[in-house]
Amino acid sequence: MCGIIGYVGSRAVVQILLEGLGKLEYRGYDSAGLAVNSAGKIKVFKAEGKLQNLKQVMANYTLSDTTAGIGHIRWATHGAPNKINAHPHTCNCGKLALVHNGIVENYKELREELTAEGCVFKTETDTETVAHLIAQEYGRCQSLPKAVRAAAKRLKGAYALCVMHQDEPNLLVGTRKNAPLIVALGENENYLASDCPAIIEYTKRVIYLDDDEFAVLTPDSVLITDADGKQIFKKEEILPWEPVAINKMGYKHFMLKEIHEQPDVIRNALSGKLHDMNSPVILDEVKLTADEIRNLKRIEIIACGTSLHAAMIAKYAIEAFTNIPVDVECSSEYIYRKTVTDAKTLVIGISQSGETSDTITAIRQAKAVGSHVLIITNRPDSIMAREAHSLIPVNAGIEVSVAATKSFNAQLIALYLFALFIAETKKSFDEGYIAKLKHELLQLPPKVEMILSHKENIMKCAKTFASFRNFIYIARGINYATALEGALKLKEISYINATGYPAGELKHGPIAMLDETMPVLAVLMPGVVYDKVLSNAEEAKARNARLIALTSSEDAALENLFEYILKVPPVDEYLSPVIASVPLQLLAYYIAEFLGKDVDQPRNLAKSVTVE
Ligand code: AGP
Repeated sequence: MCGIIGYVGSRAVVQILLEGLGKLEYRGYDSAGLAVNSAGKIKVFKAEGKLQNLKQVMANYTLSDTTAGIGHIRWATHGAPNKINAHPHTCNCGKLALVHNGIVENYKELREELTAEGCVFKTETDTETVAHLIAQEYGRCQSLPKAVRAAAKRLKGAYALCVMHQDEPNLLVGTRKNAPLIVALGENENYLASDCPAIIEYTKRVIYLDDDEFAVLTPDSVLITDADGKQIFKKEEILPWEPVAINKMGYKHFMLKEIHEQPDVIRNALSGKLHDMNSPVILDEVKLTADEIRNLKRIEIIACGTSLHAAMIAKYAIEAFTNIPVDVECSSEYIYRKTVTDAKTLVIGISQSGETSDTITAIRQAKAVGSHVLIITNRPDSIMAREAHSLIPVNAGIEVSVAATKSFNAQLIALYLFALFIAETKKSFDEGYIAKLKHELLQLPPKVEMILSHKENIMKCAKTFASFRNFIYIARGINYATALEGALKLKEISYINATGYPAGELKHGPIAMLDETMPVLAVLMPGVVYDKVLSNAEEAKARNARLIALTSSEDAALENLFEYILKVPPVDEYLSPVIASVPLQLLAYYIAEFLGKDVDQPRNLAKSVTVE
């Protein structure tokens, strides 16, 4: 969360910063700000709200003789999301400015100490302490690199920092700990950024900083050092992608566009790994030997949010196909308890962004006890990907909308392939059934296309139910997590209180809430629990709940029970979460759109959650 960028060179600094921040807006949109060294002075500009507001502010200025600049897009942690708390933050003399992504955990002690020493604080942020701390060190050593290194020794928590000083106008210093920061190398210009999209238009040459490393940038040099100032020789890498024009391609929102990309995303995720129903799954990305696979005793999957729902679905498939017990846990719970993860456990981390802080901590803990760590991510250049033993990139393409859609189904495909790959290696599942599943996997794209070309009923349903303030989603078995995911989509973009329950749990409490004001959506995919979910839906109807079914069943009797039936093509039960998730994404989308919500950038959220 929060995006930072820094530039040193002779181009139009403000434009580079604003364009870079535009590419980082997925990381937060509470406020935006920038600072430039212009005509020998540090000048700071800020605006509350989205980047567009800062762009309007900047339209009033022509800045001459700019040599360097830093920019920030904020997802507020400490202090209200207003203009005062917006970054960059400065020291009392205004000569030093910095931007920060992360949380300084010991900021209260530092703030007390600095206040006692005469610093005057203007904001409620944790970040301002860092500006004063570095300025104090600068007073002693008159060198920005030394001052940043000295101050960093006193910081606890997570940070990516980009710092500039008026008296060293052609220089930027960056450092990081548990938050991403890259150095990008240009011709007579250099950059710092939270993520590659901010710089890809200008250069593909990057250096990934590691924790406790410091980068000192001038237009024609980059020096990387450790915390004591000793030079570190780092490998320069070339970004493997072209600058992509990120636009909505005629769709009203990125979310709708990304939902519609899913048939191709699924094709991509299968490509090169599954050729036909009679050939084995090829998964060279899994760096375990056949013996190691046969000896696997346990699998743990760790993830957050939508990725966690993909993990919950995968547990059903992996256990059924491979007989290996699978535990699924959300990363933020995993990291603060004594786990029994060990060298015999395969740990799978799933993350669209590859930089979710809790998941990074969890996989590091798993690595520390000797587990093999497999990462499934949409960002093969991310921190998680670079720390993995095995890496399956899902290749869904940049996902802009904060609500994850296409990355979810790309993750599911990777997980099904993984489950089948292990089953084939272990010979643990019926060969005929494996062939059937492979055939059905290859049939998923046209089935999703069919759903996408018949959206009218979903739109009608969305209009009928948009005014409700509460929703319950029910399902059982492999689709329980599909229900959770459908409810999460509705919550995050429409702010409607939607809760997913295992249908059998209704009678243990939630049924008390049911009446005509509480619609119930039943994920009713044919399979072992179909009749059970149907009975649970009947129970809800008996309590006057208005019912929606999501099903591929042709049973005409359903029409008497359900007010809306969202029909999907038939599919094997194990693969049904892929098919069932698409109408749920669309339903959430159309409800939010009908309510006029900010679909792609819902309030309080950010696409990458880089703080605990
Ligand atoms: C999804 O719609 C959410 N915005 C969110 O739950 C997300 O899935 C979660 O933050 C995990 O992110 P990751 O997959 O990038 O780790």
